[in-house]
Amino acid sequence: MKIALGSDHGGFAMKEALKKYLTEKGVEFTDFGTDSEASCDYPIYAEKVCKAVTSGEYEKGILCCGTGIGMSMAANKIKGIRCACCGDCFSAEMTRRHNDANVLALGGRVLGQGLAEKIVGIFLDTPFEGGRHARRVGMIMDLEK
Ligand code: RB5
Repeated sequence: MKIALGSDHGGFAMKEALKKYLTEKGVEFTDFGTDSEASCDYPIYAEKVCKAVTSGEYEKGILCCGTGIGMSMAANKIKGIRCACCGDCFSAEMTRRHNDANVLALGGRVLGQGLAEKIVGIFLDTPFEGGRHARRVGMIMDLEK
């Protein structure tokens, strides 16, 4: 599984720590930036990560900003992306099981690193249930037309 990672300055420290976590977990990733805590515009990195996912080269994306909210708003504007901003483990599990989320957004100024890593682990390891949920996810995707 290849993961596309990105952040703005507000999520930079979390992204850097997640790189260590992913390496220890044996998950392959590419860091699409940003590369410092200098102020920058999160939609730029949301677009880079989400286009890497919709290209098919990366299975999932992880985006960190201050709250996770701006990143998730930007990500969900990109066709093919189902991004969930999660601050708890239950939501991370259910957005994989029911929504087949392909991008996770996290708030670097909201969550502790331990919780963020738990959420990422669940997001990466939980399968989509399909069935009736596939119909509903299809209905979400039809809204893009
Ligand atoms: C940057 O200050 C902050 O607005 C951004 O990281 C994010 O929280 C936006 O949703």
